[in-house]
Amino acid sequence: MMPAPADMFDLSDRVCVVTGGGRGIGKRIAHDLAARGACVVVAGRTLDTLSATSREIVEQGGKATAIAADMSVEGDVVQLASQVAERFGPAHVLVNNAGINPIYKPPEATSTAEWNDIIAVNLSGVFVACREFGRQMLEAGRGSIVNMSSIAGSVGLAKTAAYCASKGGLELLTRSLAVDWAPKDVRVNAVAPGFVETDLTRGMIEHAALSERLLKRTPMQRFAQVEEIAGAVIYLASDASRYVTGQTIGVDGGWTAA
Ligand SMILES: NC(=O)c1ccc[n+]([C@@H]2O[C@H](COP(=O)([O-])OP(=O)(O)OC[C@H]3O[C@@H](n4cnc5c(N)ncnc54)[C@H](OP(=O)(O)O)[C@@H]3O)[C@@H](O)[C@H]2O)c1
Repeated sequence: MMPAPADMFDLSDRVCVVTGGGRGIGKRIAHDLAARGACVVVAGRTLDTLSATSREIVEQGGKATAIAADMSVEGDVVQLASQVAERFGPAHVLVNNAGINPIYKPPEATSTAEWNDIIAVNLSGVFVACREFGRQMLEAGRGSIVNMSSIAGSVGLAKTAAYCASKGGLELLTRSLAVDWAPKDVRVNAVAPGFVETDLTRGMIEHAALSERLLKRTPMQRFAQVEEIAGAVIYLASDASRYVTGQTIGVDGGWTAA
């Protein structure tokens, strides 16, 4: 029998930054990274919810800190990266999870301001975070970035043009950064969920007719739970994926297979 390999999912003492970690998918990712030994920084707009996440993790014996940063404000993101480096050293893992989809409108009724708001958080904020944390990782000669995409990153969805464009851009940003940074062992990947039960989708899921249509279109015939998305993030954050870069893992119950 071959000797048992070291636990490739172990994240002991790795510094992992999760944006939008105060609720939804990001909160679960923060908990699951901490459960594998990571020192987690939860970052986002609302310090109350971020502090609650970090308090829960610490109460359960993990390591976590909350730092406020609006990911659509370049100065906040730059400051977040420098605060993390000063307090914990260069980040090992960055999970760009924060994202919004505040409008469902036909494209011809979408204003430029609405378009810009979505791109600012879902794409430009992710670029700035990748650049700032990427510099730390390149200098350290290692790192893993996980960007949160969506099925909307590879297929068009009705009344969601700006969101789809932001996630499609994010997937190609992911692949481009992966090519540039692979020689320095900085990996960049994405996770693309289908419909997950969170605040973001509550309106759709509670709308009986729409919910039924979405479930009919989903081969697994159910919505995802947050822990099912976090599992893919843990894989990409850890050494279990150390030869994987530039990929998007679909976690969508078969949506993009059909
Ligand atoms: N739920 C789904 O079905 C689904 C499917 C595919 C992809 N996704 C993606 O998964 C990610 C998380 O979604 P979710 O469902 O967990 O959404 P959610 O429950 O609405 O949570 C979104 C998180 O992002 C944070 N955020 C929003 N704008 C921000 C900003 N400008 N700066 C910093 N943080 C900001 C929010 O913070 P506040 O508490 O301050 O608002 C919140 O923590 C998003 O990127 C989303 O596009 C979700």
